[in-house]
Amino acid sequence: MSRVLLFTGKGGVGKTTLSAATAASLAAHGRKALVVSTDPAHSLGDALDVRLGAEPSEVDGSGGLFACQIDPRGLVDEAWGELRGHLRTVLAGAGVDELDAEELTVLPGVEELLALAEVRRLAASGPWEVVVVDCGPTAETLRLLSLPEAFAGYLERLFPTHRRVVRGLLAGVAGTGTVEKWDATADALSRLAERLDALRSMLADPSSCSVRLVLTPERVVAAETRRTLTALALQGIRVDSVIANRLVPSPGAARGAAATWLRTRRQEQDAVLAELTGIGEIRTVDHRASEPVGVTALLEVADQLYGDADPLPGDAEAASMLEVSGSGRGLDARYSLRIALPLADDTELDLARVGDDLALTVDGRRRLVALPSLLRRCIVTGAEMDSGGVTVRFRPDPSLWR
Ligand SMILES: Nc1ncnc2c1ncn2[C@@H]1O[C@H](COP(=O)(O)OP(=O)(O)OP(=O)(O)O)[C@@H](O)[C@H]1O
Ligand SMILES: [Mg+2]
Repeated sequence: MSRVLLFTGKGGVGKTTLSAATAASLAAHGRKALVVSTDPAHSLGDALDVRLGAEPSEVDGSGGLFACQIDPRGLVDEAWGELRGHLRTVLAGAGVDELDAEELTVLPGVEELLALAEVRRLAASGPWEVVVVDCGPTAETLRLLSLPEAFAGYLERLFPTHRRVVRGLLAGVAGTGTVEKWDATADALSRLAERLDALRSMLADPSSCSVRLVLTPERVVAAETRRTLTALALQGIRVDSVIANRLVPSPGAARGAAATWLRTRRQEQDAVLAELTGIGEIRTVDHRASEPVGVTALLEVADQLYGDADPLPGDAEAASMLEVSGSGRGLDARYSLRIALPLADDTELDLARVGDDLALTVDGRRRLVALPSLLRRCIVTGAEMDSGGVTVRFRPDPSLWR
């Protein structure tokens, strides 16, 4: 399995440029690298100054740099079209009315998911040491990253019952072969669920996959960056660095109107970056006089981005999102569960106990945290939050000891 680096950030901040520069730099240092765009607005080819297709092709004849642009629409037509057709026939045959059939077959986010599943396939099958992914804009990508979980849940809810119910219906009303067709469809859906599960595992494995958040230092960015970091942490996805792109060069001691403009602009940008301290490593790239297009120009960007450092992230720290501590014994024991998450002052947080899970809702995004067995036999007595996360307090409750 290749290492996977996902570049995301708002529109136009430099995701395509920096992902291409990173892959070019890895290849120049002798590591086989593939850069993939999952963005339907294909500009990766423009940045590399080559024509790209859906299958990886070598970029500059050096044997190290490969690139491709995944065509999400094409993937849907290919993988989903047939399935959808099956479902429709089967459901219509079973007397399920047209509207229900439509609802069942328009599953949310299929395009994006298939694009990411394709990235996973390339990472699992190719000769590349690293797969660098030029993802879409932040909001879109976040939604996309949470999809495998949501989608798998959706399938699970939908199909165990429907499989039985529809099969029963079919046996009564439909012609020969329809039951078998339904079984084939249900099997195809199970395979899809498995693929999504694999995708989910890849995204949440900090040793094989991490995200690089690209931003330009403008005022509105700091708060939003924290929110994005929280949302990713909530999903257990590792962010290995934040990259501030397009810093205007500092004019040094130069005088004159242009120098003053640069100095003011740069001071404003530095102020934004100062607000971001505490979120971890921030790398910077200057705003260059001309657009970095082609491998040579991209390598110059990468030089500034990484210097002598390895463009690959170091080993993930073992720090886990959840930590339990406790004191006292028996019924007098008191435990606390620390959930590490970067939180902003105005983050809206909601906690609820749902069976053996703790449902954590942060700014409208929900995540179920499975409680360690020790805490399942306790009740929640309180919770506090600070900028580094949430601490939930528990005490044993004998009525739960069954
Ligand atoms: N450091 C830089 N200096 C000068 N120009 C840059 C720099 N980084 C990116 N650009 C240019 O800015 C434009 C936007 O960059 P890019 O396409 O990489 O952003 P993006 O985040 O991928 O955008 P989109 O959200 O539209 O996909 C491009 O024309 C690119 O060449
Ligand atoms: Mg782009």
